[in-house]
Amino acid sequence: MSDQLLEMEGVALGYTAEPVLRGIDLVVRRGELVVIAGGSGCGKSTLLKGAVGLLQPLEGTIRLLGTDLANLDEEDLNRLRSHTGLLFQGGALLNSLTVAENVALPISQHARLPPGAVKLLVRMKLAQVGLEADLDKLPSELSGGMRKRAALARAMALDPDLLLCDEPSAGLDPVTAASLDRLLLDLRQAMSMTLLVVTHELSSIEAIADRVVMVADGGIVFDGSLDEARRSELPVVKDFFERRASEPSTAGRSMLERFLQQ
Ligand SMILES: Nc1ncnc2c1ncn2[C@@H]1O[C@H](COP(=O)(O)OP(=O)(O)OP(=O)(O)O)[C@@H](O)[C@H]1O
Ligand SMILES: [Mg+2]
Repeated sequence: MSDQLLEMEGVALGYTAEPVLRGIDLVVRRGELVVIAGGSGCGKSTLLKGAVGLLQPLEGTIRLLGTDLANLDEEDLNRLRSHTGLLFQGGALLNSLTVAENVALPISQHARLPPGAVKLLVRMKLAQVGLEADLDKLPSELSGGMRKRAALARAMALDPDLLLCDEPSAGLDPVTAASLDRLLLDLRQAMSMTLLVVTHELSSIEAIADRVVMVADGGIVFDGSLDEARRSELPVVKDFFERRASEPSTAGRSMLERFLQQ
């Protein structure tokens, strides 16, 4: 397989004839951890939906793990998705199922394994995120941080080549958010995963990003290393990164959110 796990060329994405995003050129290579940042409603989740074929592009080409997503039948798309993990914004655990049953879902859906093997795999995945003692709990019995970790275990249940995470630390206190960042970095190293992570949090970006992609005004306005992002003269990037120096973070609210609210 090519080293380019995700390639978007001239992509427009949206829900009506008027695209939310247009002219998107984005490549994610094996081993990278790319962060997508940008204001609320700018199209970050839309970009992830396009990347995994949940939303067809209005224009352009999307290749996921080397395969063009256009004209794929449901079976091929499913096979491709089984090599890709998606941690939805908000986690999206099924509330009527236990933690273990939630994590078992993608395994039973994509892999034909005897029940004993599924159970073992689920235990392993939950151990990786530190939830081995909570496998029989319902999502409603977990804390916010535990729910995120359970959703993460489900997203990586099939050892995906590419893991997409939509705001993994949103809504968590700074300490829990930092431990989730640490977990992502550990998992990435242990499982040699490539990650595309949407986040608002400057502290997360600084802790985990190799590369930063900033979305604004219906497109990608910056794509470069974390160092380049810190040195960028582009107003939208500069404002985002300089905010912290003038105003130390006191709570889990992101600098960009504060900036946008002014
Ligand atoms: N299912 C949908 N149907 C119609 N419009 C949608 C749908 N989902 C998102 N949109 C619109 O697309 C735009 C981008 O939404 P998106 O969810 O991608 O933003 P986002 O950058 O992820 O925001 P946030 O940081 O708040 O999660 C918004 O204007 C939103 O109203
Ligand atoms: Mg979103």
